Amino acid sequence: MASTKLANLRKDYTLNGLSKQDVLENPFKQFEKWFEEAQSAEVIEPNGMVVSTLGEDGYPHGRVVLLKEVDSAGFLFYTNYNSHKGADLNIHPVASLTFWWAELERQVRIIGTVEKVTEAESDAYFSIRPRGSQLGAWVSEQSQIIENRAFLSEKLAQIEQKFAEKPVPRPPHWGGYRVIPKEIEFWQGRPSRLHDRIRYRMENDNWKIERLSP
Ligand SMILES: Cc1cc2nc3c(=O)[nH]c(=O)nc-3n(C[C@H](O)[C@H](O)[C@H](O)COP(=O)(O)O)c2cc1C
Repeated sequence: MASTKLANLRKDYTLNGLSKQDVLENPFKQFEKWFEEAQSAEVIEPNGMVVSTLGEDGYPHGRVVLLKEVDSAGFLFYTNYNSHKGADLNIHPVASLTFWWAELERQVRIIGTVEKVTEAESDAYFSIRPRGSQLGAWVSEQSQIIENRAFLSEKLAQIEQKFAEKPVPRPPHWGGYRVIPKEIEFWQGRPSRLHDRIRYRMENDNWKIERLSP
């Protein structure tokens, strides 16, 4: 890769600004506002977010996952509890979430503690997934080493047979996590790298709003 080309890649951000006066008192409401704006701007997969966890190996592990719900307590995603991220979260129930909405020159960063959602919540979400995804949840032992792709197609054929003409139940190892935020930062790109950063921090059960230097 020609590193000079990478070094020359730069874009000045000019679309918008953000100040403490602009933002809503509650970061969930502010997130909702920005999320709706990302949808209106036709950002591709606006609910795609990097979920970073702390590995037992001492390294941070990040991967893209889809945000599936925001409720009054936190941000929800669904996955395989036996995956690498599941193992990380068993040991260190904390995570960060990072959204990058390029079309709006915006980033949102969240850190918080993580809990499994209730079985009823996981059942409810699993039941509305397309059948193919439901079967896939049984097929994939997420994050395990497999020999080849044929392993997956053979297992899919077995699972299809097992649940033929029956509803597919939720695998017990598949479900949701809720990230309960303690900090949420809204980042708006500005000219000359002097970006706007407004961070909400939970302090004595209240959200404190502060501006950070870019
Ligand atoms: C756009 C996109 C969306 C994804 N959504 C999910 C998701 O909602 N849940 C999930 O478990 N993996 C999702 N993945 C796959 C993860 O990035 C990752 O490969 C998988 O969860 C295994 O991660 P782990 O081995 O660190 O646990 C998605 C990947 C991409 C690129």
